[in-house]
Amino acid sequence: MEEQIREVRKQIDEAIRKNVTSAEQFRISFLSKKGSISLLLDEFRKLGPVEKKKLGKPLNELKSYAEHVMIDLQQNESVLNRNEAKELFNLPVYLHEPGGKHPINLIRDELCGIFNKLGFDLVEGPELEDDWHNFGALNFPDNHPARDMQDTFFAGNKVLRTHTSSVQIREMEERKPPMRLIMPGRVFRNEAVSARSNCFFHQLEGLYIDSSVSFADLKQTLYYFIQELFGENARVRFRPSYFPFTEPSAEMDVWVGTDTEDDYRLTKGTGWLEILGCGMVHPNVLQNCSINPEIYSGFAFGLGLDRICMLRYGVKDIRDFFSGDIRFLKQFASF
Ligand code: DAH
Repeated sequence: MEEQIREVRKQIDEAIRKNVTSAEQFRISFLSKKGSISLLLDEFRKLGPVEKKKLGKPLNELKSYAEHVMIDLQQNESVLNRNEAKELFNLPVYLHEPGGKHPINLIRDELCGIFNKLGFDLVEGPELEDDWHNFGALNFPDNHPARDMQDTFFAGNKVLRTHTSSVQIREMEERKPPMRLIMPGRVFRNEAVSARSNCFFHQLEGLYIDSSVSFADLKQTLYYFIQELFGENARVRFRPSYFPFTEPSAEMDVWVGTDTEDDYRLTKGTGWLEILGCGMVHPNVLQNCSINPEIYSGFAFGLGLDRICMLRYGVKDIRDFFSGDIRFLKQFASF
């Protein structure tokens, strides 16, 4: 047995020297139930008293030596683990580039926020529309030249909506007055593409229907909106206009001025920029949606988001918004 004790001791030293054993492997080989030291101890118990006296000490020493080695190995391993973790922490951090909202969405959210404060709820409608919602219900007569006001993209028996006014119809068909809604969305027109106009752009539609809504309510709402957006000193003007779905109808311009060449060009030399159409909802439109025009009246407006966005951020070419040029979009990442 003495020989075996020496042999196990040699194995332990060998394991340390080679530095390949894990603490757990070491425990299994030497100290577990089937480990060589435990087997020696089993045999030791069978020995007579004389032998026990002689071998008890070296065997105990062997066992505590092995236990110390195992504790050392365990400690080394936890230090190693910590170092590995440190290495992980020291890896260079590849930050994802911060994303940003698209400038049109920034403006949309800002405008929706302003109208929200006035109690307007946000709703959306489909981009692919039928003739009734885009034209018919909005009082565009069949084959009437009014339909030429908007160069339409046709898709089978549907149209790509030419304005968000179609969403007014969908909502009035579904709801009962009173209703106060804003409806943002993308619209499409078959127009020559230039720095000032694109074949798709964005509108924000507003609708307020109740028992005694007047043109004064419309003006006050839009004044408030403009002041929130452009500040107290913003100047606007209303011009009489025509839309089949409103009577009377108006367009609203904001004062941009002609101080810079860009402003001059944007306003075609007038200093005024048209940003929205509006009016009192035509009785025929209310009737088309089963709302009694004898009881209810309302105002509606539709404003161009792209124009407001160009004004706000000094964007000179409407095509930049959707050219996909990341350098353009990055400029808005921190807004
Ligand atoms: N739909 C019109 C356009 O796209 C804008 C508009 C004018 C919307 C008057 C309205 C409105 O709701 O009342 O040019």
